[in-house]
Amino acid sequence: MENKKRVLTGDRPTGPLHLGHYVGSLKNRIKLQDEGYEMFNIIADFQVLTDRLDTSEVEQNIKGLVLDYLSLGMDPKKTNIFVQSKVPQISELFVYFTMLVSVARAGQNPTIKEEVKATGKGNMSLGMLSLGVSQAADILAFNADLVPVGEDQLPHIEQTRDIAKIFNSKFKEIFTLPKAMLSDTPRLLGLDANQKMSKSRGNAIFLTDSKDEVIKKIKKAKTDSEKHIAYDKKNRPALANLILMYSIFSGEDISSIEKKYQGKGYKEFKEDLAEVLNNFLDPIRQKRKELEKDSGFIAEVLQRGTKKAQEETEKTLKKVREALKYDYKDLGF
Ligand code: TRP
Repeated sequence: MENKKRVLTGDRPTGPLHLGHYVGSLKNRIKLQDEGYEMFNIIADFQVLTDRLDTSEVEQNIKGLVLDYLSLGMDPKKTNIFVQSKVPQISELFVYFTMLVSVARAGQNPTIKEEVKATGKGNMSLGMLSLGVSQAADILAFNADLVPVGEDQLPHIEQTRDIAKIFNSKFKEIFTLPKAMLSDTPRLLGLDANQKMSKSRGNAIFLTDSKDEVIKKIKKAKTDSEKHIAYDKKNRPALANLILMYSIFSGEDISSIEKKYQGKGYKEFKEDLAEVLNNFLDPIRQKRKELEKDSGFIAEVLQRGTKKAQEETEKTLKKVREALKYDYKDLGF
């Protein structure tokens, strides 16, 4: 079917995926893939450099990310998985876009504002300041219709739409205004229940965790001094988060979980939660093991996906160069 909506989203290769990624984004991506959308999944390796000058693990992380994707059910025949830095068309588009955005506008992006605070005034890299612009290039190079992301990414989509509008009105109507798509599953907190699940906070369960690691992590997960198992997000957020996790990964609704554990304590609940998570993770671990046997497969998947990404973005860039009069016809380029 022609006219299938196009989806672009992705991740930075900064570490392994965890259950928060799955709930917030990957689950959605697999669903869209299986519904027949045209899927592009970016591995945003340039973005690694925005907040650190250490890329020693980037290649390893790219491989790990592809293994995570495929073991979760991403199908490389349906989803083009590609490496950002190997699609020069995206970089070229980024260069043009940097000239359409004022420094003031780039700094108004709330995600960037937070970075300014975190890094101290003046220390943030120029690359970080232009993160929203770079992400606009990622998205608009494909003329994507839909961008499934977590809430923290919404300012970048807003900026992408701004840039598309500026280009369309100043030069030529080339770009579709993409829409963000949020997951309808509530966000998971980490096992410390303070913040969202993330690698840097040490509160995550990774897809690569072993059975025993999961059991250990859940045993140590924060709860409270009350004893009964009940969902009370406001007053007992740590337990509520664990019950939510139980519900998402078992498919049971929250009230039936509460009923099941009436008169029972944390020990039993936590043992069962670890089992629920391990039941979810087992087939993923199995698939990963099989994939690891075929050492050339990851490279093959990335080569194929990246080639397709180059072809599709080149179509957009041809139009862009023409609109900008950079298609020097008489100069032999
Ligand atoms: N910044 C995103 C993240 O950290 C990854 C990303 C890069 C992305 N380019 C994108 C997501 C374009 C959506 C669209 O998760």
